[in-house]
Amino acid sequence: MAEPRKIIIDTDPGQDDAAAIMLALGSPDELDVLGITTVAGNVPLALTSRNARVVCELCDRRDVKVYEGAERPLLRQLVTAEHVHGKTGLDGPVVDEPTMQVEAQHAVDFIIETIRAHEAGTVTLCTLGALTNIAHALQKAPEIAPRVRELVMMGGGFFEGGNITPAAEFNIYVDPDAAKIIFASGIPIVMMPLDVTHKVLTYKSRVEKIRAIGSRPAVAMAEMLDFFERFDIEKYGSDGGPLHDPTVIAYLLRPELFKGRDCNVEIETASELTVGMTVVDWWQVTDRKHNAKVMREVDDQGFFDLLTERLARL
Ligand code: BDR
Ligand code: CA
Repeated sequence: MAEPRKIIIDTDPGQDDAAAIMLALGSPDELDVLGITTVAGNVPLALTSRNARVVCELCDRRDVKVYEGAERPLLRQLVTAEHVHGKTGLDGPVVDEPTMQVEAQHAVDFIIETIRAHEAGTVTLCTLGALTNIAHALQKAPEIAPRVRELVMMGGGFFEGGNITPAAEFNIYVDPDAAKIIFASGIPIVMMPLDVTHKVLTYKSRVEKIRAIGSRPAVAMAEMLDFFERFDIEKYGSDGGPLHDPTVIAYLLRPELFKGRDCNVEIETASELTVGMTVVDWWQVTDRKHNAKVMREVDDQGFFDLLTERLARL
């Protein structure tokens, strides 16, 4: 069997981030989680760092290393999303406060050192939040860009529009200046936009299958999804909310679940009305260089089957 793929998960948990982390930790044959780096986003940094550790402890994986990163976006004030994720960012289950500590090293330095220390083209970055940490790493050590195997992100939206403003998806909106740096970096990017994540809905029947696994992490996940979906059900009027972030990990495990195309993507940073918009040249109407594979279709049942199967392994 091939060596597990080496990944760093950069995240702002968030219930859907938690699902992504659990999906990765439930897939040790395929994925080697070198570290989890936290960033401010859904909630402030102290909480995203707490939540990352809560998730590791729920999975009984106190050995996973968690590194704390940026407290605020590169140039702007932090925007958070307690209205979606609750006060802690991980509302839903009753959990113990984590006992594991964050590592002493800063997330940005961990990212740089890890990419330098491994053979070029072997470390994949999985980003589930604002791109602040990665942008800092590229600013501090630009030579790491060509060494990154791939950056798979949850971010952006095009046909679906935005979810925090009519034009912008939350992760890109929080730090559009960071996103701009990433899309100009030359790193091979795979983008999971709202166009995909709005198709993976947490139907009651899907959540019940997860709960029925009966283990601590699976039941906690079902409780997180019970909480998480109430906001989206109200907003979108659907039976279940979109489960954004685990699409990133699912892509690494089963890329055939997704369909998309290579495009040019530019980030709007100036316009007050559309700041944070991912301008995707889907129809190839410019001669701007392709810089990302933008996904649009997903086998949603295949995705939930995979998630459920891997949660059962934890
Ligand atoms: C993204 O924003 C966050 O609220 C979620 O965790 C996800 O990463 C969806 O727009
Ligand atoms: Ca997230």
